[in-house]
Amino acid sequence: MVTPKLLVVGELNVDLIINKIQAFPQVGKETIADEMDMCLGSSSAIMAANSAAMGVDTSFCGVVGKDYFGDFILRELERKSVSCGHVKRLNGEKTGCTLILNYGQDRANVTYQGAMNALTLSDIPFENNAGYRHLHVSSVFLQKGLQNDIVQIFENARAAGMTTSLDLQWDPTEQWAFDYARCLPYVDVFMPNESELRALTRTDTISSGIEKIRPYMNTIALKMGRNGSLGICGEQQIAVPAFDGPHFVDAIGAGDSFNAGFIRKYMAGASLEECLREGNLMGSLNTTAAGGTGAFCSHHKISENIKEFWGIELSLS
Ligand SMILES: Nc1ncnc2c1ncn2[C@@H]1O[C@H](COP(=O)(O)OP(=O)(O)OP(=O)(O)O)[C@@H](O)[C@H]1O
Ligand SMILES: [Mg+2]
Repeated sequence: MVTPKLLVVGELNVDLIINKIQAFPQVGKETIADEMDMCLGSSSAIMAANSAAMGVDTSFCGVVGKDYFGDFILRELERKSVSCGHVKRLNGEKTGCTLILNYGQDRANVTYQGAMNALTLSDIPFENNAGYRHLHVSSVFLQKGLQNDIVQIFENARAAGMTTSLDLQWDPTEQWAFDYARCLPYVDVFMPNESELRALTRTDTISSGIEKIRPYMNTIALKMGRNGSLGICGEQQIAVPAFDGPHFVDAIGAGDSFNAGFIRKYMAGASLEECLREGNLMGSLNTTAAGGTGAFCSHHKISENIKEFWGIELSLS
C-alpha cells in the first residue's frame, strides 16, 4: 500500500451549476435554465483531487451526510484517487451543497453548509505513525466546528512533524475572526488572494497587508489572478507572472489548483520561485476547462496540455 503524504482537511459539498438562464430569477417568478451540471465542489476537495491527479499521494479529512450527495462526493474523490479513510459520514446531517447560478460573465452562489460544520479537531489524524508529511487546510470560515481550534490544529500538525499550509478563503460573514498573530507562526505557507489579505488585515493595499502579517508569517504565496503570484519569505520577495491561458473557459477553482501545484513542489523541497511557477502553471491550466477539476483528468493529460499550451515539459508521476 502507498502511504498517503498530503492530508487535506476541509469542507465537502456538491456544486449544482445552473447555466444558460433565460432571465435572472426574481422572487415570486419562475425562469428556465437550458443547462445543468452536478459536480464535486469545495475548495478543499478541488485542491485534493488535483493534487492526486498530479501524482501526489493525497488523503482527505472531512464530513458528509449519509445521503445521495455524500455518496456522489465519495465516489468522485475515489475516482480521482483521493483516499477517503478519514471522511466521516454522519446520520442526521445533510451533505453540503452550493447552488451556482451562472449569468452572463458573473454568477450568484448560495451555499448550504450542512455536514461541513460537523468537522472538528478530534477528527484529524495527527498520530505520528499516520505517515502524512504535509497538512493543507482550506475554507476556515465555512467550517464552524474547526474555527475555534484553528491554532491548535496547526500546532498539532507541527508537533506531528508535518509542514503546513492554509488557504482561508473568503469569510461570508466578513467578520474575519481569525487570529493571524497566533496562528500564522505555525503555518509554513499562507495562501490568500489579494482581497482576502486586505480584508483580513483591514488594510487598503497589499503592501500594508503584508506589513501587518510579516512579524508572524513564514512564507506567503499571494494569488493575484491574471497577474500571477507573489511570494515572500524573510528578505526574499519574488513575483511570478501568470501563464496566458490560450483557451480560457472560466476561473472557478484556479486558486485551489494553484495551491495544488505550489504544494506539490513545496513537498519536493523546491525553491520559492519554482513553487510559485508551478502554482501559476496549474492555476492557468485550470482556466482552460470548465470548473475546478475539468483540466485535471490524469497526469498524462496534464503534462500533454501544458506542453501543447506553453511548450513546457513537466514530469509528473
Ligand atoms: N485569467 C487567468 N489567466 C491565467 N492565469 C490565471 C487566470 N486566473 C487565475 N490564474 C492563475 O491561477 C492563480 C490563482 O488564481 P486566483 O488568483 O484567481 O486565486 P483565488 O482568488 O484564490 O481563486 P479561487 O476563486 O479559486 O479561490 C493565479 O495566481 C494565476 O497564476
Ligand atoms: Mg481562493
